[in-house]
Amino acid sequence: MSTAKKDVKRITTHILQSMKQEGEKISMLTAYDFSLAKIVDAAGIDMILVGDSASNVIAGHETTLPITLDQMIYHASAVIRAVKRCFVVVDLPFGTYQGNSTKALDSAIRIMKESGAHGVKLEGGEEIIESVERILSAGVPVMGHLGLTPQSIYKFGTYTVRAKEKAEADRLIKDAKLLAKTGCFGVVLEKIPAKLAKRVSKAIKIPTIGIGAGPDCDGQVLVLHDVLGITKDFNPRFLRRYLNLYDEIHEAIGNYVDDVKSGDFPSAKEQY
Ligand code: KIV
Repeated sequence: MSTAKKDVKRITTHILQSMKQEGEKISMLTAYDFSLAKIVDAAGIDMILVGDSASNVIAGHETTLPITLDQMIYHASAVIRAVKRCFVVVDLPFGTYQGNSTKALDSAIRIMKESGAHGVKLEGGEEIIESVERILSAGVPVMGHLGLTPQSIYKFGTYTVRAKEKAEADRLIKDAKLLAKTGCFGVVLEKIPAKLAKRVSKAIKIPTIGIGAGPDCDGQVLVLHDVLGITKDFNPRFLRRYLNLYDEIHEAIGNYVDDVKSGDFPSAKEQY
């Protein structure tokens, strides 16, 4: 178990809010399946994001765009069956909420009803505010996502740091304030300068969760497969790996192959 101070049975949006007020950092990781979500939850994580990064790390797509609502519901259901304590938020995938707030509400309701998730996350600011409002009006907790928003990768063209220029930074602060005022319970800040993330975190009352956004966010999120070192070729500056599972799994499977080929497995004890 981690050193998390909060001795709570279930993390709620109210608890996340109080963590910001009391200066306790919020820990968040992605998860997409039952077995790993069970370990992540048991280890004391505050929030799990069933991210549309599943499109990359689980399905092997180059971007997050191809993943569907049905696939997100499948991943989210597996995660929900595994967790006891943490708050589970699920990405609304590309094409299920932009430009149509009725469709956005339908998508959010499907996620909540069919997976049992605790909230949803949408990428964007002012341009999606109607969708955010409508989802909130149904009582569904909404998390925002600003800065590098991977669903817009073909607009940006690259995965480099966002909002380095004043105009984009000002717009981001405005969007963060709007999301907070509208009723979002938190906002992810992805790949923006640390100084800007600090300004945003001070300017709004809801928790900011950073990824590549420096130490002054109210919490941090990373992709689980990166943290565990299963993805080997993704090495951004903001990533800290806690394991090197790619090499460990590679070696273990190599040993298994050798044992099968040599007839060493199964042994006398490993048969009926
Ligand atoms: O999909 C995802 O994993 C995310 C995180 C990178 C914040 O949105």
